[in-house]
Amino acid sequence: MIYLDNAATGGFKPDCVIEGVTAALLHPANPGRSGHKLSVACLERVYAARKVLCEFFGGENFERVIFTKNCTEGLNIAILGGYAAAKERGRPKIITTVAEHNSVLRPIEFLKREGAEVAYIPLDSRGEIDLIALERETKSAEGKEILAVMTLASNVTGISLDVAAIRKILPEGAILICDGAQACGHVPVDVGAGIDALAVAGHKGMLGVQGSGALILSERFSPYPILFGGTGSESYNLNMPDFYPDRLESGTLNYPAIISLAEGANYLKEHMGEHVKFMAQLMEEAHGLLGEIKGVKLYSRPNPFGIVAFGIDDMQSERAAYRLSEDYGICVRGGLHCAPKMHEALGSEGLIRASFSPFNKISAAKNLASAVAELIERG
Ligand code: ALA
Repeated sequence: MIYLDNAATGGFKPDCVIEGVTAALLHPANPGRSGHKLSVACLERVYAARKVLCEFFGGENFERVIFTKNCTEGLNIAILGGYAAAKERGRPKIITTVAEHNSVLRPIEFLKREGAEVAYIPLDSRGEIDLIALERETKSAEGKEILAVMTLASNVTGISLDVAAIRKILPEGAILICDGAQACGHVPVDVGAGIDALAVAGHKGMLGVQGSGALILSERFSPYPILFGGTGSESYNLNMPDFYPDRLESGTLNYPAIISLAEGANYLKEHMGEHVKFMAQLMEEAHGLLGEIKGVKLYSRPNPFGIVAFGIDDMQSERAAYRLSEDYGICVRGGLHCAPKMHEALGSEGLIRASFSPFNKISAAKNLASAVAELIERG
């Protein structure tokens, strides 16, 4: 099989990740609960992992690295918890974009049904986030508490967010929450550029296992907890502790997943530079070859996130994905990719997404293109 579905879950884990998870499974204990030697050792490793992640993303305070089970959980904490905190202070307005995944759209639409004011920023003529519309929405939100929720890279087309440009438009007090699902691990992401909450998926570009994720918070953003339970601290207190990370982390942590995420970050510290160079080559090749095929419509441009989005004339995307898998052993994803507004904006009813990783070979792009060409010929 040729695995080109790395935006859904990374298809390759480096040895250090596999070894880290194996060691965690061989010596399990509950970090931060029981106080015996094994539990304390696990807790120390979890704290070391927090420091690795904090440094990797340029965070201010490693205690504000919250471990989550995926990017969706981090986004839900930031959106729902951030909205509740903003509502207590004043009149919040959520500004988001049509490029978002359901992990952003669904919590926001839930808040909208509860009465929240929400604005969606459209795409401009180049298919990028329309900064003029953002400026307009921001101006009309004067006096309100702005929560801006935006993806760093679209999971559909790989368009990316210029955080510095967004920050120039948003007022100083606005909270910027970023969905890092498709960007983290592929390109350097520095929360110091003005990101108040970065939600990280562990199992994609970060090279960790499924069930890993993190939310990196700035010092000035304190979302309310949305999950309540045991923390191993202040057990007499019937409220969640006020301090971090305990305020937002309840229930037993996924220790093997956390170790995998830290090991993935350690690996990337050494290899990201070479990955970025290789991905540029791979993306040029894949877009170039597919772009030459009659009957293929490209929806993406070369991007560092490995995403190649395309449609085939008169062929439903799910059907094409099925046939690529069955007839050619190539794994891609068809359909809406949990980002319905992006498809509305693109005028597509679903498309084929091949998502490459730095562990694919250039020959995978060639194989994909010849399979697509043959598929079209066969009809
Ligand atoms: N969000 C993941 C994707 O884009 C699952 O495929």
